[in-house]
Amino acid sequence: MSVIDTIAWFVYLLAAVLFVVGLHDMNSPKTARKGNRISAFGMILAVIMAFISLFVKGFVSTTAVIVLVVGIVIGAVAGVLSAKKVKMTDMPQLVSVFNTVGGGAAALVALNDILTSQGGPTAVVLVTAGLGIVIGSVTFTGSLIAAGKLQGIVPGKPMVLPAQAVWNNVVILATIVSFVLLIIDHSHTGLWAVLTTVFAMCYGLLFVFPIGGADMPVVISVLNACTGTAVAMSGLAIDNVALIVAGALVGAAGVTLSVLMAKAMNRPLTAVLSGGFGGGNAAAGGDADGPEGTMKETTADDVAVQLVYADKVIFVPGFGLAQAQAQRTLADLGELLKGHGVQVSYAIHPVAGRMPGHMNVLLAEANVPYEELIDLDDINPQFSSANVALVVGANDVTNPAARRPGTPVSGMPILDVDHAQNVVVIKRGRGKGYAGIENELYFEDNTQMLFGDAKVELQDIIAAVKELID
Ligand code: TAP
Repeated sequence: MSVIDTIAWFVYLLAAVLFVVGLHDMNSPKTARKGNRISAFGMILAVIMAFISLFVKGFVSTTAVIVLVVGIVIGAVAGVLSAKKVKMTDMPQLVSVFNTVGGGAAALVALNDILTSQGGPTAVVLVTAGLGIVIGSVTFTGSLIAAGKLQGIVPGKPMVLPAQAVWNNVVILATIVSFVLLIIDHSHTGLWAVLTTVFAMCYGLLFVFPIGGADMPVVISVLNACTGTAVAMSGLAIDNVALIVAGALVGAAGVTLSVLMAKAMNRPLTAVLSGGFGGGNAAAGGDADGPEGTMKETTADDVAVQLVYADKVIFVPGFGLAQAQAQRTLADLGELLKGHGVQVSYAIHPVAGRMPGHMNVLLAEANVPYEELIDLDDINPQFSSANVALVVGANDVTNPAARRPGTPVSGMPILDVDHAQNVVVIKRGRGKGYAGIENELYFEDNTQMLFGDAKVELQDIIAAVKELID
């Protein structure tokens, strides 16, 4: 092994250690930022080393160096700008766009390795690079459509072709056949590599179009796992340890996250991936057999009185809190009430919001003490002893319809908000939740609705609470 290869091995090993340490730090919101920086530093090290290694070995021409530098600068600027500018509520789309780029890049690296291998690619390269092409290409088109669905550019409802299953089977078969021919027919390697790419890209489209918008976060997590796997395969093909380790970590994390999210929605991963939720099924629990009764409206002043005279208050944040960017205002209200001797906690549903840990991240950003964020299993027994449950922009995750069969949210574990003595729900109007059905909670006797933007209403409540306390 040459000196530069030995140095590269050590740098990649160091980068791999930094990835693992960074991931470990992401276990807690307190250390997550540090973890992010550590992992990013590891990635920068690996990229610089790969670049130096190519340059020293003379594998790249001067033109290629210029192209690489320009590519790195464009990628870095685009990455930093998009991460800074994109709103928290749009993060799933951003992740999906990153998956598109990651999957596409992994497929291109693998394709390039096959097409440019000196003396023809070995069997190991053909298998690993071929898998990189298949998984990377599915991820490329699949993630593009997933991002489009979340952004509203592509219709969110499931889009199913006539005889969809037949098309799926034909395209899967074509991908497998061209992949096998890529490995065994050495006289047309380029042709089979390109056909494998094209068929796999078609399958990415067929895979994501029929899945409803509400299931996109899970799909994105699955595609994230695919990106990692494609990158690891490409790393094996070009013998780059940093790519193998980074890809394997992303792949494993993506699989774990997908399984956890499917579990939190109490739906098998296979059911999520075969489509349905957030689409046609919504009618099953929708208007036809919607809840009876009327919603009772309240005012910020009245809510302030309830909160000030309460012993125990549970805040229930949901997607609307993120939409209104009201996390700091809610935290301020919590501090005010705690200062007045009220016990305050935050009920965290695992899929509240639009991405895993969405509420934890938002509330950590507003400096809410982590001990006050209580998970579903621990908070549910506490609702019956709460004087007030204040629901802020949460809908599906509080819908009692989930307890009975036949609705799109059936079986999803919910926060038992309706068990609280009084429930106040802040939302802008009569809009439905992500699952597209009416929330039975809003029609219960102990529920009052405070209609308006979460931030504005919370500010009004804070003003009224201050007046009462003073
Ligand atoms: P949702 O069911 O989406 O409901 C959010 C509510 O917030 C809406 O009813 C909306 O009502 C209200 N809202 C929107 N903007 C608002 C604003 N500015 N001020 C006040 N209220 C506002 O949210 P959820 O309860 O958090 O449930 C999450 C859903 O996403 C679940 O169905 C879950 O299964 C799904 N999902 C989540 C994930 C992850 S990982 N988080 C993954 C897959 C699926 P108005 O329009 O009337 O204001």
